[in-house]
Amino acid sequence: MKSTQVVVSKSDVINYSGDLLVCLITVNEKEVLDGINLLSPLLQKISKLEEFNGKKGELLQLYPSFGDDYVKLKSKRLLLIGLGKINDLDEPVKLRELLRSTGGLIAQQCKKNHVKNVCISLQPCAGFKREHVAEYLTEGVLLGDYKFSKYKKKEIVGKTYHGLKKLVFFTSSKTAVIKKGVERAVNCSLSVNAARDMANEPGNGWTPVHFARYAKKLARNHQLKCRVLDKKEMIELGMGGLVAVNQGSKEPPKLIILEYRPEAKSDTILLVGKGLTFDSGGISLKPASGMMDMKYDMCGGAAVLSAMETIAKEKPGVGVVAIIPSTDNLSGSNALKPGDVITHFGGITSEIENTDAEGRLILADSLAYGIEKYEPSCIVDLATLTGAVIVALGHHYTGILSNNDKLAKQLVDAGTVCSEPLWRLPLGEEYSKQIESRVADIKNTGGKTAGTITAAAYLQKFVGDVPWAHLDIAGTAWDFTEKTYIPKGPSGTGVRTLIEFIRGWKNNLV
Ligand code: BES
Ligand code: MN
Ligand code: ZN
Repeated sequence: MKSTQVVVSKSDVINYSGDLLVCLITVNEKEVLDGINLLSPLLQKISKLEEFNGKKGELLQLYPSFGDDYVKLKSKRLLLIGLGKINDLDEPVKLRELLRSTGGLIAQQCKKNHVKNVCISLQPCAGFKREHVAEYLTEGVLLGDYKFSKYKKKEIVGKTYHGLKKLVFFTSSKTAVIKKGVERAVNCSLSVNAARDMANEPGNGWTPVHFARYAKKLARNHQLKCRVLDKKEMIELGMGGLVAVNQGSKEPPKLIILEYRPEAKSDTILLVGKGLTFDSGGISLKPASGMMDMKYDMCGGAAVLSAMETIAKEKPGVGVVAIIPSTDNLSGSNALKPGDVITHFGGITSEIENTDAEGRLILADSLAYGIEKYEPSCIVDLATLTGAVIVALGHHYTGILSNNDKLAKQLVDAGTVCSEPLWRLPLGEEYSKQIESRVADIKNTGGKTAGTITAAAYLQKFVGDVPWAHLDIAGTAWDFTEKTYIPKGPSGTGVRTLIEFIRGWKNNLV
């Protein structure tokens, strides 16, 4: 992955001599004049012409070296971006998203003009300190600048844009605190973009072995503990779900475990991510149209694994264990069949009604194993688990299902501030009844109705009383609500929510 250098410099914008200088303007005119003295005469002129009023989303690009009003600027271009009307009473969450999407807008403008080096003049914004303004803008720029071109080998000379090399903030105030904000944004954006990279890889470019290799490398670089279980160990441990799903494939399964431990004794948060590297449906084969998208069925695993990098860098006070069960779901001659009965880790038996309901099978083993081995205080799992969640919530909300109100609230709140909104769906005995089997303890489908809930009800059987939340990201992992900083294709959803949740972890669940 390309990495963009982000710099905070205590300097006046006049001294910036790169490709593009960006100034953010609100319609509260007074702020404009205070903020950018140098530009005031120019802005007043423009404002008289009604060319640019600082309204939200307004853009005006100027070429300083061509004029004389603001000839003192050395930057090749000057871009004014309107933020709209802002006041101190605005909700912080809204403001945060405004800055993030403005960052995305800047990245789009840079792409349009092939800008490699961009500078943003940093002003405080309503209730936000410069530190946070810089943080959310950086997040937007770095997420918006994302591109996956690994398999495009033919470049058109002069036409291929390779993205931003450098992002600079010029500020009149102390840089140390601002740098902290920028660092947080860089960490989490790198994690999100890493998750997008994994997801963008084709099914033959990202297999369970790739998950394992990536995790081992992360562990080496950041002093995490990594363990990878292979098929033999899974069989010995009795992980009948993961082994069963893998039966129809030549590609061996892997169960990847990454462990972060703080210095002092602490709670453990268990993260589990569905790492299904291609879901054909197995014997219950999916229709051909759209099957290609099932290479994204590993987005839960990608989110969990990528979030671990930020966790390793930021060293929170709570332990975090990540488990990624990984396999593809194919229909080879040994494949799992409808009607087969399997035994999960811990002994619960399950009748397979549909081999396409495979996600819950590999998650069930991981949840049961994770609880026995790591005794976590809480569990969060992420999975592209059901098409039904798209019917319910579209591509705008991730579904969350939980056996603990406080944990659900912590996650919903984390999602809200990241603009990765979560909507809670219920669990309950009525739904658990739908997965009762005549021949085994449970069955792996729950009929036509409430598909997202019956899938979660399956997982619930394996977590018992441990506080647990399940995030069904099938609607948001790709084709997520269009935004300036979310490209077409995989969104990396869940990564920022997990990081925010862990940064703010409070053990008040029971
Ligand atoms: N990976 C799919 C869920 C999915 C579908 C994600 C569409 C994103 C878009 C999952 O393994 C699956 O196939 N689920 C089935 C369950 C059904 C057979 C009970 C589904 O949703 O159709
Ligand atoms: Mn499936
Ligand atoms: Zn699947």
